[in-house]
Amino acid sequence: MSESNWKEICHIDAIVPNAGRCALVEGEQVAIFRIQKSGNDELYAINNHDPFSKANVLSRGIIGSLSDRVVVASPIYKQHFCLATGECLEDEATQLKTYRVRVENNMVQLSA
Ligand code: FES
Repeated sequence: MSESNWKEICHIDAIVPNAGRCALVEGEQVAIFRIQKSGNDELYAINNHDPFSKANVLSRGIIGSLSDRVVVASPIYKQHFCLATGECLEDEATQLKTYRVRVENNMVQLSA
């Protein structure tokens, strides 16, 4: 994918550590998560739309870990989604779109 497909979203400090934030990217709501592990930031981005409640709420979900996976729990019905793969842990047929995300010069950038 070429460099030009990266879209600048916000400053890294605009996302509270260990929380999510919603961004609108090309008409799609994306939930971006900033996870801090031993002082380093890990960023994840998944679709913000919760297929179970049909609401755009996943950026406000509770972040946790299950086994080795970093997950977000939907604030509505509490299903867990793996932030790395978008997989729903309670329903393997349900898979959310994931996006590539990176930090360049303290700016969060996203690519579909
Ligand atoms: S690493 Fe997330 S489901 Fe396997």
